[in-house]
Amino acid sequence: MSSPTPPSVPRIRPRGRPVVIAIDGPAASGKSSTAKWVAQSLRYRHVDSGSLYRAVTAARERLGDSPESWTEPSVLAVTSTVSLQPTDHSFIPLLDGELAEAEIRGSKVTREVSRVARMPTVRNWVNEEVRRVARGHDVVVDGRDIGTVVFPDADLKVFLVADPWERAKRRLVQRYSRKPSDAEIAEETERLVQRDSKDATQTVQARDAVLIDTTYLTQTEQVDRIVALARAVTARPGDTSPVDDQ
Ligand code: CDP
Repeated sequence: MSSPTPPSVPRIRPRGRPVVIAIDGPAASGKSSTAKWVAQSLRYRHVDSGSLYRAVTAARERLGDSPESWTEPSVLAVTSTVSLQPTDHSFIPLLDGELAEAEIRGSKVTREVSRVARMPTVRNWVNEEVRRVARGHDVVVDGRDIGTVVFPDADLKVFLVADPWERAKRRLVQRYSRKPSDAEIAEETERLVQRDSKDATQTVQARDAVLIDTTYLTQTEQVDRIVALARAVTARPGDTSPVDDQ
């Protein structure tokens, strides 16, 4: 069996090929906010793959029937109503051509999104969309299987983890912009742990990913750490492939 590429050994990136940074991790590990800041710092584009799973879930919810009755073809069918609109530094999901940010981030979607994300044809659709919008750009892509399935050749792979209690606390602060009570954190921790277990199959750390435990890191510290890793991987003197030089 071949041994994994150690994270400290940068891959050889062919000259001119755009850079891909993959950030994976469990729910509320800070993937999306970190990916956004890393992308801004490096002037790359941010692609939030979770927002697509959420948008598909919201689109299916609009049909009004009970989630228990959702078949895979019926979920795949609504992907035709979901699109990604490019902005300067990222992509925003649209439902029927319109912004629906509150709807796709709402608790109803959060409750059902793992059901949709386990459907293989839906995963294929999301993965293709992500690859399509990333094509030709330097990107930071966050999700769950980005470094393993979507971009197995990513230039840098990061796997973010954090203690569930801390993740729950951060999610609540983000949601309510205030300090949550211990009872609220306990309840949210329970929900997160349940979602972790539903998402377990696709939340896999690539063998060549750098593991960062953010439990005791500030947002700025974790962003700085990833930006430094990205710079080390992308700004090397040998930033060409032997083939290019022939
Ligand atoms: O930030 P958080 O992890 O809470 O959620 P998200 O990134 O918005 O993703 C929402 C859901 O989409 C997750 O709970 C997964 O079920 C699914 N997902 C996935 O399966 N694969 C991805 N690459 C991204 C998200």
